Amino acid sequence: MMEAYENVQKLLLAHSPNLPVYCIYPHVYRDSTQHFLRGFPGRVLYAVKANNHPAVLKEIFNAGVRHFDCASLPEVELVSSNCPGSTMYYMNPVRLDGHANRAQVEHGVRHFVVDHHSGLAPLVKEIEPKNSIIFARMAVSHVSAQANLSAKFGAKPENIPALLTAIRETGAEAALAFNVGTGVTDPDAYVYAMEIARQALSKIPFKIRLVDIGGGFPKSYPGYKVPALEEYFDRTRNAFATLPLAENGELLAEPGRALSAPGLSAITRVLLRKTDRVYLNDGMYGAFWELRFKGHLRYPCRVFRNGQPLSGDTKTFRLLGPTCDSTDELPGRVALPADIDVGDHIEFGCIGAYSLSGRTDFNGFYSDKVVSIRDECSRPPE
Ligand SMILES: Cc1ncc(COP(=O)(O)O)c(C=O)c1O
Repeated sequence: MMEAYENVQKLLLAHSPNLPVYCIYPHVYRDSTQHFLRGFPGRVLYAVKANNHPAVLKEIFNAGVRHFDCASLPEVELVSSNCPGSTMYYMNPVRLDGHANRAQVEHGVRHFVVDHHSGLAPLVKEIEPKNSIIFARMAVSHVSAQANLSAKFGAKPENIPALLTAIRETGAEAALAFNVGTGVTDPDAYVYAMEIARQALSKIPFKIRLVDIGGGFPKSYPGYKVPALEEYFDRTRNAFATLPLAENGELLAEPGRALSAPGLSAITRVLLRKTDRVYLNDGMYGAFWELRFKGHLRYPCRVFRNGQPLSGDTKTFRLLGPTCDSTDELPGRVALPADIDVGDHIEFGCIGAYSLSGRTDFNGFYSDKVVSIRDECSRPPE
């Protein structure tokens, strides 16, 4: 049973934690997930890679998500044991030998993906094609994405008609998937990709039913403001209507960041202060690893001393992680109370995406302390 606290102040007063503590705000996950489910004009598959912590998966499941985009058999198993009755999609063009078979036989997985002819025979050997849907993944990236997800996977659009035809010839249902990138800052990216999809689909002599537009729905962070999700939903809905699909055509998406980011915060402790340098007990090898990549540079934050909010004049500081690697420094500078000192705590909000799922224990610094914050009026820093 996960520890629960009414709010962060109570947690800090009770424990003044030495290790990082990750706080789940269930009501924030509920509201943000339901907002996405209500607005998106299709089937929502949560991309487990964005945050695979069982407690986060359960919040997203409790909020109503019943479809999960998995990249491996262990992710399929994780969803299977934490989110009963859900449908898992094995959406990685590369798999370990035997894993597609186990996903299908042991967990009832029916959806798979390939991005090249050479991947089709090994997949079909392991599954029952007649009972499966195989997506052809198309490479299509947009300049507005924080990271290109088509540099490694995805067939060129001109090869998609042949790949869809080959999938159909195996007896499986053929479908189309693409991924315009992660952190897509321009909603027109999906319109652009759907036009390329439309052209590819107009070259095949049959109609497919499912189009999966992947993830990429972004989140605003300090200094990194993005359009509202509604703009993405509206433009996606309109572009989808132009696709030549079967009558029961359906749109799917694999949001990771948009669902996992909002409801998690990280409470870190100040271990050392040297003038404008503040050393924390978590860093680039821990929950902040995503800041290594192009995109946002910070999370919203607030400071506590002895469990009470610390305010007053601010100054900008450099934030450094606890390991001996000198690159273990968060990018940029952050405004914090000028007298911040050893033993104070900083809570970083909106840190649910690409944080827990990729942290390491480099140098022996690691925390798996996840707690829940109960008070519905309590919000993480935004
Ligand atoms: C295949 C696939 N689907 C979905 C996602 C989720 O992307 P996002 O977190 O930007 O929504 C990713 C991210 O890497 C991905 O590779």
